[in-house]
Amino acid sequence: MKRTFSLIVLGTLLVSNSYGQAKADLTVTGGDSKLTISRNIYGQFSEHLGRCIYGGFWVDPKLPVAKQNRIRLDIVEALKKIHIPNLRWPGGCFADEYHWRDGIGPSAQRPKMVNTNWGGVTEDNSFGTHEFLELCSLLKCEPYITGNVGSGTVDEMSKWVEYLNFDGESPTTALRKQNGHPAPFKVSFWGVGNESWGCGGNMTAEYYSDQFKRYASFAKNYPGTPLKKIATGPSDGDYHWMETCMKNIGTRMWGISLHNYTIPTGSWSKKGSATSFTNAEYFNTMKNCLRMDEYVTKHSAIMDKYDPEKKVALVVDEWGIWTDVEPGTNPGFLYQQNSLRDALVAATTLNIFNNHCDRVKMANLAQTVNVLQALILTDNEKMLLTPTYHVFDLYKVHQDATYLPIELKSPDLENGSDKIPAINVSASIDSNKVIHISLVNLDPEKKISIRTGLKGLNWSGVTGQILTSEKLTDVNTFQKPNKLKIETFTGASKQGDQLVADLPAHSVVVLTLK
Ligand code: AHR
Repeated sequence: MKRTFSLIVLGTLLVSNSYGQAKADLTVTGGDSKLTISRNIYGQFSEHLGRCIYGGFWVDPKLPVAKQNRIRLDIVEALKKIHIPNLRWPGGCFADEYHWRDGIGPSAQRPKMVNTNWGGVTEDNSFGTHEFLELCSLLKCEPYITGNVGSGTVDEMSKWVEYLNFDGESPTTALRKQNGHPAPFKVSFWGVGNESWGCGGNMTAEYYSDQFKRYASFAKNYPGTPLKKIATGPSDGDYHWMETCMKNIGTRMWGISLHNYTIPTGSWSKKGSATSFTNAEYFNTMKNCLRMDEYVTKHSAIMDKYDPEKKVALVVDEWGIWTDVEPGTNPGFLYQQNSLRDALVAATTLNIFNNHCDRVKMANLAQTVNVLQALILTDNEKMLLTPTYHVFDLYKVHQDATYLPIELKSPDLENGSDKIPAINVSASIDSNKVIHISLVNLDPEKKISIRTGLKGLNWSGVTGQILTSEKLTDVNTFQKPNKLKIETFTGASKQGDQLVADLPAHSVVVLTLK
């Protein structure tokens, strides 16, 4: 018999299941998985946009915070703690109007430019190639650079790669040495344009795939640093773009990107507030977020047709929730607060990527500091970690671990005649044979009991950590920076050979089984 339970708030969201109490069943299987959850799924994105670079990573020399050069070290330390594996730069839309030669050499002599995409502000080019690579070296992460296809030339991109990666003598490497870096930087993740169907040049898929071949032919593999070339891929469900690139470029590219943002209302003209939303809007946000699974599944099926051995990576190098900007801030700066809802978006999306790790080899949340779904917000010398940051902290245990297949029977979360699964999960086992299961309960009001059978896996005890808060709209502020933080979770136990856990409403739980 199917019974549904109505919720108190607004009375519009319901959890339904077939047990008479909100329950989920999970099976996690060990044994023959050969799939690794690439650490690069946990990558970040930092564009010359608003206060991500300027006033974020790269601050005024007079700001009273610890710095190396002008790089803010409290941000570096926070990102090192969550092991960020790679950082994408300089855009975004900015990449297709960026000319790398303007960002090298003595800072005072660098030409200024207008950042036409993001607020029309003047860019002084004080943060360029050397500064970005210094940041990556401090973060101990891999750089992922996107070259300019939209307004640059084949020669310009080719020489940037030579500047970065060639160890021999040439006028370009002489310039690098003159700028203080005798050794090559060894950058291998290489984006060939960004959103070439839109801000990157408004191209057709057919035209772009030919352009990719031109640009990629002259972006050379120098000894010791073969490039991992990443083509501009589709937005959302543009399957024609994917089909065309796979047919025309195929395994000549290391990866192809996918961009998909979660818009709470589904409308770009009025996206919805970051801090004030109804339960119905929350439901729509999570429904839109879960569409990532559909996009990844359908794009992967097209990729499988042309690349059955799965050599080409699907690189979701822009994702996250995109809301209206905070009232009173520059609309071109995309500054938004970050609530518990955003943490649920991040945790759910990362579970989707983990569960598609056969094809999704890399992803980049947009964007690390002060822009869109940021990990970190700053206000002059103050800095706070957002709920989304804490999800990346909880989930870092999956990086480079072996993927464990799951089967999940979840109750539904209903909104009128609409429904989504209330629970989502992913699981992995690390090199020390420690199992991690990340569970998200999307229900805004009800705890859900989950019973898990583990097949072919040895474990004798469970511990856990949780991220939750009283309300979905709760945020960390500069006045209360630790309102949302990771806490110990004691709601899981071993009962016989089963793992049983009570997942509180609107929570992210990561269990460790040893
Ligand atoms: O992340 C913000 C912008 O969104 C990027 O610059 C662009 O690639 C996308 O449209």
